[in-house]
Amino acid sequence: MEKEMGLRIIGTGHAAPKKVVTNDDLSKLVDTSDEWIRERTGIERRHFAEEETNLDMAYAASADALLHAGIQKEDISLCIVATFSPDMQVPSQACLLQQRLGLNRDIPCFDINAACSGFLYGLQIAHALLTQSGGQYALVVGSEIISHRLNMEDRGTCILFGDGAGAAVVKLEEGYPFYGMMGADGDDKILICGQEDSENPYVQMDGQAVFKFAVSIIPKCINDVLEHTGLTAEDIDYFVCHQANRRIIEYVAKKMKQPLDKFYMNLQEYGNTSAASIPIVLSEMDDKGMFTPGKKAICVGFGAGFTWGAALLQW
Ligand code: COA
Repeated sequence: MEKEMGLRIIGTGHAAPKKVVTNDDLSKLVDTSDEWIRERTGIERRHFAEEETNLDMAYAASADALLHAGIQKEDISLCIVATFSPDMQVPSQACLLQQRLGLNRDIPCFDINAACSGFLYGLQIAHALLTQSGGQYALVVGSEIISHRLNMEDRGTCILFGDGAGAAVVKLEEGYPFYGMMGADGDDKILICGQEDSENPYVQMDGQAVFKFAVSIIPKCINDVLEHTGLTAEDIDYFVCHQANRRIIEYVAKKMKQPLDKFYMNLQEYGNTSAASIPIVLSEMDDKGMFTPGKKAICVGFGAGFTWGAALLQW
């Protein structure tokens, strides 16, 4: 019988724009305060792109990930960028990235839009396509410039988001368990029209409805992964959740009866960077040497669509 091939992350990288915007900075634009934002979300600052493009950040994160992976760019046989905020409609961010990185010219490169679940969709698509094609390495990136799509007069949304990129080089490899799940339900409680000439091109959101959705879907996703892999929550070293709100993550830790220190958080530094949020966390944890051999993590994302996705990864 053929051995099942899993997916292993072998290198990560991340990048964020230079400009840091604090809660106090935002309180000069809208009726809010550092205290309110910290208490209700956990966010302290975020990065907003001024000169940087989506591609600049995707490139910086990917170059870093390739360096950490210790492979040649010619070894990459698939490039996926998860984003809802590309620099242009076509070429895709992934094709632009292929050119800037100098990846092989005959490999599939494409963008996916699953909002904040995008990176997890990307990992699962990479697993499926590598398995089908016999390729060994893929580059999976989440990169977003959300600040350009924020209404800086809407205190309910402009305080939540930030810009950034995270990247992972993944390898199809025997002996590394990988299980992924993803879904969507066609809800529009988070909406970004994006067309400059429309009445409201900016992020629109029913914050409370999204909060309720998040605290119900994340434990469901984690339990689905545990059930399919025969593991228990105690077997998992880290739960890497989409970085939207500290209270959401605290709620999930409590519901899963797991210590909060298994849930790495960096939303205080970046806010919600949508598809970039999970790979930025993975890259920071990697930089801190947290992924020693054998460590297991369940990553969980949720976002506009509504979409959701989760994956078990082992180092
Ligand atoms: N500063 C100060 N007050 C604010 C505020 C801000 N930035 N934003 C909202 N408020 C006010 C509201 O107007 C409301 O005032 P009122 O009681 O006088 O009507 C009050 O704070 C409470 O608002 P509410 O919406 O109930 O707050 P909340 O505790 O639900 O927090 C969010 C709002 C948006 C932080 C929270 O709902 C949330 O994080 N939701 C999930 C959003 C998310 O993750 N989106 C992305 C998913 S990928």
